[in-house]
Amino acid sequence: MVELFRFCCLVLFFTSIKKTNGTVKRSIDASAAYTVLTEDRLPNDISPQSYDIHLEPNYDELSFSGLIKMNLSWNSDSKKVWFHAHYDLNINDRKIRLSEINGVQPAKNYTIIRGGRQPKKTIYVLYLKETVKQNTQCTLEVPFEGTIWKTAEGLFRNTYKNYTYFVTNLKPTNARRLFPCFDEPGIKVPFTVSITRPKEFITISNTAVSETRKHPTLSNLMIDYFEKTPPMSPFNFGFVISTFKKWNLEELKKLSNTPSIQMWSYSENTNIKEIYDRLIIAYKKIEEYVGIAIPLTKIDVVIIPDLAIVRPIDNFGLLIFKDSDILKQRYFDSAQELIYQWLGSWVTPEWWSDAHVNKALTSFLAAEVVIQIDGGIEFNGKYPITALYSMYYEFSKRYPHSRITGMKHETIAYKTEMAIRMLNFTLSKETFQRAIQNFIMQHQYKTFVEDDLWSALTIQALKDKTLREQYSVSDIIRPWLRNHRLPVVNVERNYQKNSVVLRQKMYLRERPHDVPGQDKMLWWIPIVLNHQDTLRFCNYTPSVWMEESQNITIENMPGKNSFIIVNPEEIGPFPVNYDQTNWNLLANFLQTKKGRTAIPANTRFFFSCRS
Ligand SMILES: *[C@@H]1O[C@H](CO)[C@@H](O)[C@H](O)[C@H]1NC(C)=O
Ligand SMILES: *[C@@H]1O[C@H](CO)[C@@H](O)[C@H](O)[C@H]1NC(C)=O
Ligand SMILES: *[C@@H]1O[C@H](CO)[C@@H](O)[C@H](O)[C@H]1NC(C)=O
Ligand SMILES: *[C@@H]1O[C@H](CO)[C@@H](O)[C@H](O)[C@H]1NC(C)=O
Ligand SMILES: *[C@@H]1O[C@H](CO)[C@@H](O)[C@H](O)[C@H]1NC(C)=O
Repeated sequence: MVELFRFCCLVLFFTSIKKTNGTVKRSIDASAAYTVLTEDRLPNDISPQSYDIHLEPNYDELSFSGLIKMNLSWNSDSKKVWFHAHYDLNINDRKIRLSEINGVQPAKNYTIIRGGRQPKKTIYVLYLKETVKQNTQCTLEVPFEGTIWKTAEGLFRNTYKNYTYFVTNLKPTNARRLFPCFDEPGIKVPFTVSITRPKEFITISNTAVSETRKHPTLSNLMIDYFEKTPPMSPFNFGFVISTFKKWNLEELKKLSNTPSIQMWSYSENTNIKEIYDRLIIAYKKIEEYVGIAIPLTKIDVVIIPDLAIVRPIDNFGLLIFKDSDILKQRYFDSAQELIYQWLGSWVTPEWWSDAHVNKALTSFLAAEVVIQIDGGIEFNGKYPITALYSMYYEFSKRYPHSRITGMKHETIAYKTEMAIRMLNFTLSKETFQRAIQNFIMQHQYKTFVEDDLWSALTIQALKDKTLREQYSVSDIIRPWLRNHRLPVVNVERNYQKNSVVLRQKMYLRERPHDVPGQDKMLWWIPIVLNHQDTLRFCNYTPSVWMEESQNITIENMPGKNSFIIVNPEEIGPFPVNYDQTNWNLLANFLQTKKGRTAIPANTRFFFSCRS
């Protein structure tokens, strides 16, 4: 039995690898985030209130100049001003101005002694002659110059056939390559932006153009002024300057007060309507689920051929796709990209260490939306089994991720997603959904840390009485997130006493079983039980939780002619092993016609692997 199980897992594992490289391409933002975990944070003595940015690209020389006016507010006395500016950005400290905003004219100016970069850092510091007092408001004006790149970061140029276009890609920390700013996810302010472009081009950015004027000196250039954005993190800013065509799909537009989705691409593309329809359907379902429209009048979707990006560039209100990617997309991918507008742009992880939870949550919600759209036909019955089994396989190795370290972050993020799925089932779908709605309402235009999500779930679950009073989601989820292992539950029935003992231990497939500390690693495990006499696969409320205890005994079990099923539908990401008698009862039942129809696919699939 063990051998067979192992074999099944292997087969699954390899099919799932293929899947990962093929259609189930997952976003890598969390992985990208790991490289910036160690970023230095700016001191918090100054809070920006708004940015006013003018950008003037020189399209022939592949450079740009610009001016940013940041309105800043002092939280404490300080003689220095710190902000982010990449070393690619040229800044002349003698041209920087810092003037107080207090309604008095002429405004008081602070003298800047000098400015310069921190050694080896992308942080710029201004040293002032005198101290700026707490509660002072100032405007800081910084002119700057930079380079238009040919690789896909910062502001870059690309060509396709006879088309030239300019695109920004500011994640995770490339906003500071385009303009000086407080380049941290948690520092959200409204942007007022103007950008110069050649006459025959169009600029698309986070918000709509409010006004276009002729350039004062250069007759072949125009300046677009964009509507003020909602408060957003610097990396959510973006624009595309191109001669792409806007598709008029107005007839489908506008669901009440929701943003319109506008499609752009370089030329004739017969699939544009199909892509658009998929986005609209996904958007509607997401909005229904989260109960609130994103605070924008439009989402522009730009489809570009030959773009050297790994994942779509998702700015607030502006999604940029490589055409070969979006053509292959299923509802799942479209939904996940759109969900990033709510969870990513509108509500943002406070720091890179919180990004993996955001990724897991958006991926879970995308799956939920896909199931709601059409029952999840595109998953072909494989959600979540395929990925779940490759995860079992990996975490039960003696040395997980020893061979393919690149997959480590992916598997860990997937484990978080499966833990979130467990909460959706055990707390109930309604409680989970209401908690997500409240969470978005509470954190809109702001950021969150991991615990904010768990406490939103706890509060709702206690209110709905789907969680015992002394429990908290944060306690429940912690071992699932912290332990880079999974448990296995062994079920041992006592057929004389009609009781059952459930034991958890670290799931290890390879022998010898001697991973240090394996006995101390314990999980909160929901015990959802089904018996042969009352087979119902709709209620996933646990009859009891194993509270990080090694074992638990449950009385009043059915007699020896009736099997039990623990963890139906793999609602918790852990395998279950039964005593031989229970296995036999199950195996016999599965051979009957009734057995094959009464037990749902995922549950049945798991048994077929083992019995
Ligand atoms: C910055 O403050 C000044 C003075 O109060 C104001 O005129 C300006 O509109 C503010 N800038 C932005 C972008 O809000
Ligand atoms: C501050 O500088 C601005 C221009 O840079 C000037 O117009 C203004 O008069 C100066 N304020 C004072 C108090 O000197
Ligand atoms: C590129 O060429 C196509 C036809 O060859 C033409 O229709 C299109 O307008 C051209 N685009 C640009 C930006 O010149
Ligand atoms: C969430 O739980 C409900 C049952 O409460 C289930 O129908 C739904 O499919 C679950 N969502 C996902 C994505 O698993
Ligand atoms: C349950 O675990 C405790 C230790 O936590 C142990 O003392 C006890 O013998 C175990 N009971 C069974 C039935 O395995």
